[in-house]
Amino acid sequence: MSAISDVYPVLGLSIRSGSLELRGLTDDDLAALGALARRGVHPADRMPFYHPWTDAPVEEIPLGMAQYHWGVRARFSQAAWTLDLGVWVDGELVGTQGFSTTDYLVTRTGETGSWLGVEHQGAGIGTRMRQAMCAFVFDHLDAAEVTSGAFVDNPASVAVSHKVGYVDNGVSRKKRRGEVADHIAFTLTPEAFVRGEPIEVSGADAFRRLIGLDRA
Ligand SMILES: CC(C)(COP(=O)(O)OP(=O)(O)OC[C@H]1O[C@@H](n2cnc3c(N)ncnc32)[C@H](O)[C@@H]1OP(=O)(O)O)[C@@H](O)C(=O)NCCC(=O)NCCS
Repeated sequence: MSAISDVYPVLGLSIRSGSLELRGLTDDDLAALGALARRGVHPADRMPFYHPWTDAPVEEIPLGMAQYHWGVRARFSQAAWTLDLGVWVDGELVGTQGFSTTDYLVTRTGETGSWLGVEHQGAGIGTRMRQAMCAFVFDHLDAAEVTSGAFVDNPASVAVSHKVGYVDNGVSRKKRRGEVADHIAFTLTPEAFVRGEPIEVSGADAFRRLIGLDRA
């Protein structure tokens, strides 16, 4: 053991798809990610997130961002892990794509979640990064299903889920900024998955061992 990526193989994981790369976020990447989020993720009068982290005062967003990702690392376990990867396009950090699980060894399912800096939205990146993560979990982590969710008034997120092949799986009433808002659940199976460009993965073997799929 000599590198932190040996200890925490998320930092050795890379998923490439054309000009897109999803990979583990180092502490320096977290600083860049915080600066990106601080520049804006959505209009102030909207709230796309179930956990409204962008409602924090803007000067607190970079530290909150780092603390969230440190928390993901700190809580990582085979019983409940989240893979939150940074997303780069032509080498520029543009956002994150996550996959969050509970009891994955039994359930073989997880929930995708993502965001892009506002200047990178609406150009097809959100679709490509979701396709890359879904291809990774189906092809390299033996996933049986992927879920997602979005408020009904988030047409970009809903459109990405539908384009990638997720089907609607019910609407529930959630509290958002003190008021009720309808939230749609989505489910994706390998058969329905609409693939994008092929992916090239490195570091999958160590990650599989980390989550208990293969013994060392
Ligand atoms: C959601 C998000 C990740 C999607 O990424 P993106 O790169 O913007 O999405 P894409 O460009 O790949 O696709 C967006 C689709 O939504 C469609 N869309 C966007 N606004 C729309 C609207 N008002 N009505 C209907 N469709 C809309 C686009 O037309 C596009 O579909 P198309 O390619 O078939 O035309 C990104 O917009 C984002 O980060 N938003 C803010 C944070 C967020 O909402 N995160 C998800 C929380 S559930």
